Amino acid sequence: MYKTLLTQTENGTFIITINRPDKMNALNASVIEELGAAMDEVYNNNEIKSVIITGAGEKAFVAGADISEFLTLNAEGGAALAARGRVLVFDKIENCPKPVVAAVNGFALGGGCELAMACHFRISSENAKFGQPEVNLGLIPGYGGTQRLTRLIGKGKAMELLMTSDMVGAAEAKTLGLVNHVVTMEELMPKAKEILQKVHSKAPIAITKVIACVNEAADGNHHGFDNEITRFGECFETADMKEGTTAFTEKRKAVFTGK
Ligand code: COA
Repeated sequence: MYKTLLTQTENGTFIITINRPDKMNALNASVIEELGAAMDEVYNNNEIKSVIITGAGEKAFVAGADISEFLTLNAEGGAALAARGRVLVFDKIENCPKPVVAAVNGFALGGGCELAMACHFRISSENAKFGQPEVNLGLIPGYGGTQRLTRLIGKGKAMELLMTSDMVGAAEAKTLGLVNHVVTMEELMPKAKEILQKVHSKAPIAITKVIACVNEAADGNHHGFDNEITRFGECFETADMKEGTTAFTEKRKAVFTGK
């Protein structure tokens, strides 16, 4: 169905594999369009409970936006390219009501690092390398990299990585808080799937509200505390809250319906 992506659903997890391994899975206009369409599927298909985004092959997750598409752009064209990516893909991933995990299987550079950072959290293989090398090209990140990297690893380290174009390996990425787990390549997809299966066993409406609240905290939204209280209250009107609390008092495992 897609030209640049492979997709499959496994136990409720929609796996999106960016499939341009000969070009290090670089994000050209087709990949951006198709990622947008794939995320629309995620929003609209009730059978999909979570998402993993990964790259084809064992070398690259995504080595950035496709540099060959940059050559003819002027200021307007450059800004439009970044804005389109934001609307079609990056905002949809970050604000997705279902958990989205990046399984980073190699280079995550430029737009690739930005794509991984837009996901709700990241698992990485040992060979992964992260970086924002845009200043090597006379550019800056355009898919949210300056914002999300600063939020994830703090201002000083973000400044250094963005100014030097230095790459960090998986172990350092974990120390910095950029990735949650580092595993072997063989364990990468199983680890991501295992975590998502655990999330599937929780109350889906509560998971959606957690995502919204944490995004607001990361965005520095001044209403984050108020909105948490509102959403906390809303949970009391759900069947799943009644099931969860009843199951606890009856000393049994809760069975959630997403209602
Ligand atoms: N855009 C377009 N093409 C890219 C690309 C990108 N971001 N990253 C890699 N490619 C292409 C290369 O041009 C090459 O294509 P070719 O075989 O037709 O010449 C192919 O992918 C393989 O890359 P290559 O550089 O030969 O592999 P390598 O193992 O020597 O190096 C990287 C791997 C990732 C270190 C290197 O490709 C790289 O630095 N890529 C650009 C990273 C970047 O600056 N990203 C930010 C973009 S804003």
